[in-house]
Amino acid sequence: MHACSIRDLKKEYVLKSETVRALRGVSFDVPEGDYVAIMGPSGSGKSTLLNLLGCLDQPTDGELLLGEDNVATMSDDQLAEIRSRRIGFVFQSYNLIQQLTVTENIQVPLYYQGRLGAAERRRCVELAERVGLADRLDHRPAQLSGGQQQRVAIARSLVNDPYFILADEATGNLDSKTTAEILSLFDQLNNEGRTIIMVTHEDEVAERAKRVVRLRDGLLQSDKLNAEQDRQAAAARALELVPQDAAE
Ligand SMILES: Nc1ncnc2c1ncn2[C@@H]1O[C@H](COP(=O)(O)OP(=O)(O)O)[C@@H](O)[C@H]1O
Ligand SMILES: [Mg+2]
Repeated sequence: MHACSIRDLKKEYVLKSETVRALRGVSFDVPEGDYVAIMGPSGSGKSTLLNLLGCLDQPTDGELLLGEDNVATMSDDQLAEIRSRRIGFVFQSYNLIQQLTVTENIQVPLYYQGRLGAAERRRCVELAERVGLADRLDHRPAQLSGGQQQRVAIARSLVNDPYFILADEATGNLDSKTTAEILSLFDQLNNEGRTIIMVTHEDEVAERAKRVVRLRDGLLQSDKLNAEQDRQAAAARALELVPQDAAE
């Protein structure tokens, strides 16, 4: 089963004076359990691709399957439903609600869906524990470090058991030690079977993924597997930055 499949995916932005062909026919599959880094120079179509994968926008042409659902044929309501229930977003800027505690922030997607019963509340506490925030459940974002805030966002992204985690420069605001901690958490989640798709421009981040997809001028330039021993060497180098008690 694929977490997602794209076939000859195209996106054009029609402006007054010109049409920008942001994606000009991109194809690849993301099997369940994969861990993909999307790279490419500025303007190559990374954000456009991420917006399509996140159902924030519709393709101009081509096919996008999420699980077994064909996004290209969906209504706006169906898209909104998929977006809120089946995709876990993690942003560079965390996007937490400042007035809410850690547990409440993790509950937000369920709250909006009217699905917040006792079992769901327990699950949110478990997710907070899962990302290493067991002793911070009642803290608010301002009382947390950047790395801790990103952990809250990651826990929140998992609350709906998504097709995949879509991470847009998730470590872009973090120092190298905190980046190492977050990437170690991604490794753990991926080892448990979570599919991760992330956009990054940092080689040290991309080398931790299983696979690197490079875009150029709206086309797929390359799609390469990272050798397992290189990934492990990169993880080991990063781990040297993390004190052992935080490494879990
Ligand atoms: N909303 C939009 N309207 C018009 N052009 C856009 C829009 N979004 C992106 N583009 C253009 O599409 C191309 C790809 O952009 P983008 O996907 O943001 O690239 P990247 O994220 O790799 O920097 C660029 O030429 C950009 O100017
Ligand atoms: Mg971009």
